Amino acid sequence: MNKKFYVTTPIYYVNDIPHIGHAYTTVAADILARHNRLLGNEVFFLTGTDEHGQKVEKAAREKNRFPKEHADIMVRNFMDLWKKLNISNDGFIRTTDDAHIRTVQGLLQMLLDRGEIERREYSGWYCTPDERFWTEKDLLDGKCPDCGRPVEQIHEENYFFLMSKYQERLIEYIEKNPAYILPETRKNEVLGFLRNNALGDLCISRPKQRLSWGIPLPFDDNFVTYVWFDALVNYFSATRYLAPDAGKAGQGDFWWPSDHHLVGKDILTTHAVYWSTMLMALNLPLPVNIFAHGWWTIEGKKMSKSLGNVVDPNAVAEKYGADALRYFLVREVPFGLDGDYSEDALINRINTDLANDLGNLLSRFLTMAEKYSAGEIGAPEKQTSIASLSEEHKDACSTAAADSLLEENWDYLRFTHILDRIWDIIRASNNYIAQTEPWKLARNDSEAVKDVLYGVWNALRMSAVLLYPFMPDTSEKLWRQLGLSSLKEDVAGCVFEASEKGGKATIFEWDWRPACPVKVSKGDQLFPRIEKKNEEEKKELQANAAGEKAASAQNVISINDFAKLEMKIGKVLDAERVKKSDKLLKLQVDTGEMRQVVAGIGKAYAPEDLIGKKIVVVTNLQPAKLMGNESNGMLLAATGRDGTPVILMPERDVEEGSRIK
Ligand code: MSP
Repeated sequence: MNKKFYVTTPIYYVNDIPHIGHAYTTVAADILARHNRLLGNEVFFLTGTDEHGQKVEKAAREKNRFPKEHADIMVRNFMDLWKKLNISNDGFIRTTDDAHIRTVQGLLQMLLDRGEIERREYSGWYCTPDERFWTEKDLLDGKCPDCGRPVEQIHEENYFFLMSKYQERLIEYIEKNPAYILPETRKNEVLGFLRNNALGDLCISRPKQRLSWGIPLPFDDNFVTYVWFDALVNYFSATRYLAPDAGKAGQGDFWWPSDHHLVGKDILTTHAVYWSTMLMALNLPLPVNIFAHGWWTIEGKKMSKSLGNVVDPNAVAEKYGADALRYFLVREVPFGLDGDYSEDALINRINTDLANDLGNLLSRFLTMAEKYSAGEIGAPEKQTSIASLSEEHKDACSTAAADSLLEENWDYLRFTHILDRIWDIIRASNNYIAQTEPWKLARNDSEAVKDVLYGVWNALRMSAVLLYPFMPDTSEKLWRQLGLSSLKEDVAGCVFEASEKGGKATIFEWDWRPACPVKVSKGDQLFPRIEKKNEEEKKELQANAAGEKAASAQNVISINDFAKLEMKIGKVLDAERVKKSDKLLKLQVDTGEMRQVVAGIGKAYAPEDLIGKKIVVVTNLQPAKLMGNESNGMLLAATGRDGTPVILMPERDVEEGSRIK
């Protein structure tokens, strides 16, 4: 039977434009939602906007707009960003929705009727920007303990939710449900707070003369609802009108409680304490989990408008792609800890993990598949000469895949760990190619080549499915290039547990065997490498230009002259002797593009020794003819002790086409 899976993000204030912190939670929730759809669960993924309250009212006033008019304009920023980041939310709640307002009012009335709300004379210290009351002892140097800004003393009549009476019950609940608040350190903070402080009652109203932009209390029109009471209820109200089949009879209780509320660490108290006790008072079940993630700093500094360092996720996604940003956000730091964002760190991730490890594996595989088997992939019919390496590779990949899918890893949102395990598959496959050297096998062992290609194809197929929650576009690109779209249109349509027609294995398992052979085909490069040019490098370039003139007078070349030389790593795909010459070899080299290079190395090397090797080629040399053969580039070789040429080769594997600098 399918399980239901309900995940939420905070609802974001519409007073501001979205930044990377908002993108963070929403991407994380999207990953969980997509993973659960692959598991075959029924998913409700909710995000939305928090549109009432002082902050929004103030932002609207500054723009000379009515609050709702302002919200209607600002909400687009969030909706557009989610589209750009491939966010697959099933519902988008706005707290100005009529149905939400009705639910909030209904619940308030219910709490009043049950004696959970009381009207009282109140005086306290109020932080206007945070819209929060503090007691005298909460204050830090007479200022708001949260934001450090001045507070003002306010006396007024207000309505209070009698939160204090739930203190013991909440402590007990958190103790009995160790995964209710995660990560554990945050749970301990909440417990520490609850054990060592007397929980007060919660002021849940604002007099209309001070704030008009809110939901009117159903039992007293002189007041509107405190914004957090209105906001927290969104998680529940959405199940009544936005969730799949919400309107159907009997569906009312299907979605609640949620499985995960994802929130930033700054809003954990409102969720863990206010929301939990509100639900207790309403006799509603508590969510399965509230997960508080850390905050991003930007190059070591707090992100803030005044520092001008707010990172716009739109711009990052446009420059580097949504998938790269999604990947970076959940790969860079374990979910729950604080992280530091910098463009440099993002580029490093793209170049190492995505371009080098994953991108290279796919392009090497496709090049070999096209060359050795015209793109056709099928399982070898019998044991091959490399069977033990294949078995090792299969075991490594299968173990890593199974671990990446472990329920516990997903329940605890261990994204970095899960991705690490997926990268184990990718790295094991790059190793497998290096160990089996298919370019050598291709000379006389076609069954072994078939074996390697099948193994790498399988590993890439698994990776495509496992990566889908994290990088849905990349996953679909992989899927198509691996020739799988002819069997199943897209990854999104796969379900881990479903056994395919006739077969027993599930989609991510090694023996999931579609009607082979399938035909793979090269498509766009997944992640082109990104050249870093930082400010320092730019300055250096200018300085070098100045030094150029001086250099030309001596017998040296300037760095800029040197920079004119284009050298790349090339892979020798074929080699033969030039007729009637014992010195010249004719090589077909892949330097990102195919070229023929004729080189005087025939006395030191046999053509077959060179096939599959990586060499260094000068690629912007004027073409020349040698004994009637066009040579398009020059390979670099040192002169050995006895005068024989020794070809330069990279110390580690580098992708063909990489620039040498
Ligand atoms: N409207 C409330 C939430 C109500 S939920 C019932 C709110 N909105 S917010 O727009 O100010 O913030 C939303 C989220 O952004 C919070 O979870 C907060 O933790 C997160 N972040 C704000 N700055 C952040 C970083 N620098 N890094 C990571 N997340 C950050 O609060």
